[in-house]
Amino acid sequence: MIRETIVTTTDGQGGVHIAPIGIIQEGDDWVIAPFKPSGTLDNLRRVPHAIANYTDDVEIFAGCLTGRRDWPVRPAAKVPGVVLEQCLAHAELSVVEVREDEQRPRFRCRVVHEENHRPFRGFNRAQAAVIEAAILISRLHMLPRDRIEREIAYLQIAIDKTAGPKERRAWGWLLAKLAEHQAAVTEAEP
Ligand SMILES: Cc1cc2nc3c(=O)[nH]c(=O)nc-3n(C[C@H](O)[C@H](O)[C@H](O)COP(=O)(O)O)c2cc1C
Repeated sequence: MIRETIVTTTDGQGGVHIAPIGIIQEGDDWVIAPFKPSGTLDNLRRVPHAIANYTDDVEIFAGCLTGRRDWPVRPAAKVPGVVLEQCLAHAELSVVEVREDEQRPRFRCRVVHEENHRPFRGFNRAQAAVIEAAILISRLHMLPRDRIEREIAYLQIAIDKTAGPKERRAWGWLLAKLAEHQAAVTEAEP
C-alpha cells in the first residue's frame, strides 16, 4: 500500500527539501524510494530522518512540481526536520535500513512520533484528480503525449464537477507546466 504524502527532509545545515513522495508500507514501517537524482535522496544520506506530512492541500503537491516549494513549516517534535503547517497529521520517521539500487534506493523508516492536527473531512474527486495529474506531470519525459492528453481530459471531468478554488489553482499550475513542456517538445521536433 502506498500513501501519497509530502516528505520533508533536511540537509543538516538549515536547508529544507519539500517533495511529494509515495511512501510504501512494509509491516509497521514505511519505505521512501527516491529516484536518482533527488534532493530527498541527498538529504536522507546526510540526515537519516524524514517527516511524512499527510495533507489534503493539493496546492502543495502541484506547487512542488511547478517550482513552488516555499511552504510554511515549523520544527518537528522528535527528529531533526520540519512539519508542514498545512498538514492534517504527520509522522516523524527515522531510517533503520538502506537498500541501495542503481535507479531507486530504498530507505526503510520507523515511525518514532505521530501527531494529528486537523480533522479529515472526506474525499474530494478534484483533489484525487490533481494528485493523478501531478504524477503524470512528474513523468512527462517517460510517457507518450497521446496518453497524457487522454488522461488529463478524463481527470478534467472531476475538476469541472467537484473542485474548489484551491483545486482549480493547483490544476491550472499543472496544465501550464504541461503546455510549457509540449511547446518545448514541438519546437524540438524536426
Ligand atoms: C503523488 C506523487 C508521488 C511521488 N512519489 C515519488 C516517489 O516515490 N519517488 C520519487 O523519486 N519521486 C516521486 N514523485 C516525484 C517527485 O515528487 C518529484 O519528481 C520530485 O521533484 C523528486 O525529486 P526531489 O526529491 O529532488 O524533489 C512523486 C510525485 C507525486 C506527485
